[in-house]
Amino acid sequence: MDASQVSQITDMMYALRNPAGLPTYPIIFIGLSVLTFALHILFVQLMLGTSAITLIGAFSQNAYWRRLGAAMLEVAKVSVSVAIVIGVAPLLFVQVVYDPHWYTSNVLSADWVIGFIIFLILGYWAMYYYYFVNGANQDKSATPKARWSMLLSLALMLLVGFIMHSLTSQILHPELWKSWYLQQNGMLDYTGDKLHEWNLWRYAFFISLSIPVAGGMLVTYRRFKSVRSDADHAYLNWAAEVGKKWIKVGSVISTALYVGWMMTLPETAGNFATSLWGILAGVMVLFYAIWAQVRLKGEARFCSYMALPVALVIGLIVATSREILRYDILNGFFHYNFWDYKIVFDWYSTGLFFLTFAIVGGVVLSYFLTIAWKAGQTVGVYTPSAFVNKLGTLSIWIVVLWVVQFFIVGFYVWAR
Ligand code: HEM
Repeated sequence: MDASQVSQITDMMYALRNPAGLPTYPIIFIGLSVLTFALHILFVQLMLGTSAITLIGAFSQNAYWRRLGAAMLEVAKVSVSVAIVIGVAPLLFVQVVYDPHWYTSNVLSADWVIGFIIFLILGYWAMYYYYFVNGANQDKSATPKARWSMLLSLALMLLVGFIMHSLTSQILHPELWKSWYLQQNGMLDYTGDKLHEWNLWRYAFFISLSIPVAGGMLVTYRRFKSVRSDADHAYLNWAAEVGKKWIKVGSVISTALYVGWMMTLPETAGNFATSLWGILAGVMVLFYAIWAQVRLKGEARFCSYMALPVALVIGLIVATSREILRYDILNGFFHYNFWDYKIVFDWYSTGLFFLTFAIVGGVVLSYFLTIAWKAGQTVGVYTPSAFVNKLGTLSIWIVVLWVVQFFIVGFYVWAR
């Protein structure tokens, strides 16, 4: 590509940029995008990994695997909801800062973007179908029914992830957008029925991290359940040993796939693969295996609870590196710089966002997590304390207040 071609592509991207500008500094959007992507992908990996354990349990004759499969299904069905909800956040941020890229990529593959929702709903239903037909009160050591539905669920989730991966990959190739619109006969292709770009190393890398993340979940599971008076320690210790193995083996597999990804980066990425961030992300993934080897010996009463937070910190480093790669390609090669986005300050919406995050999210989430935590560690029926009940009432009031201010401000702006 010569300089004039690159400059045409730069102009094209700037022409597609939203002239309305951003309500606050672009770096805030990028920061939140990295943070929320790391959370999204952690729950995606937790969902995929625990779904895989559910499937191993469903097809195994081993009583421990059967039991573990049933227990991990509980984690999978919560994780899929969290992954979806948290997935919305990076979607909002990426479409604000990289709007020319995100929308072009979406329009080029519009059928797949719509299909994404349908596949996701079907995958979600299939998981719940499996859950309901193998109801909570049934014998967990019996062969589960409708195993096909759990298989279908995992396959659909992988497809959904692949669509996301492809949309993200298409963003990185503005030099190809026009050729993707043109058919062989010179006509424009408006169908949006193709996915045009992907990198199987990159996709496999993000998916493979499900193995160590699920391993981290198993170690946490042992620690969490071991305090109950009815705990079966032999079973829980076995589960934690499986978890440690998954962290170690999975991290090594993921590191190998990461190297494959770095070796297949497009030329437009320059020398990202050998840069500090390019190397750091891979090293940190491998570090998880070393951390597990050193810190998860024996019962590891404290460090067991650290297994998932450590995975999140590593995920944050990977997410940062992934974002720097995008910046290196789009700014470094194609001279599209999100830093020069026009800013039209809107302090109310920025303030509302952070307050919602901190107060609504903080209080309501604390309530839900407290209830879930206590219920999981209680034998029989859990009765919340007066304090937890107050937290519940406060959560309801905070949500009500939020909705009221939403309408008041909305009507005020509308009436002006
Ligand atoms: C539940 C099934 C899902 C799976 C398995 C999945 C998987 C993935 C994967 C593997 C990536 C990384 C792609 C890459 O960088 O190569 C990704 C990114 C992303 N996902 Fe998901 N995802 C799921 C659901 C969702 C949902 C429901 C949303 C939004 C409503 C969402 C929003 C996003 C966004 C915004 C990105 C980052 C896009 C970017 O930075 O360019 N995902 N997802």
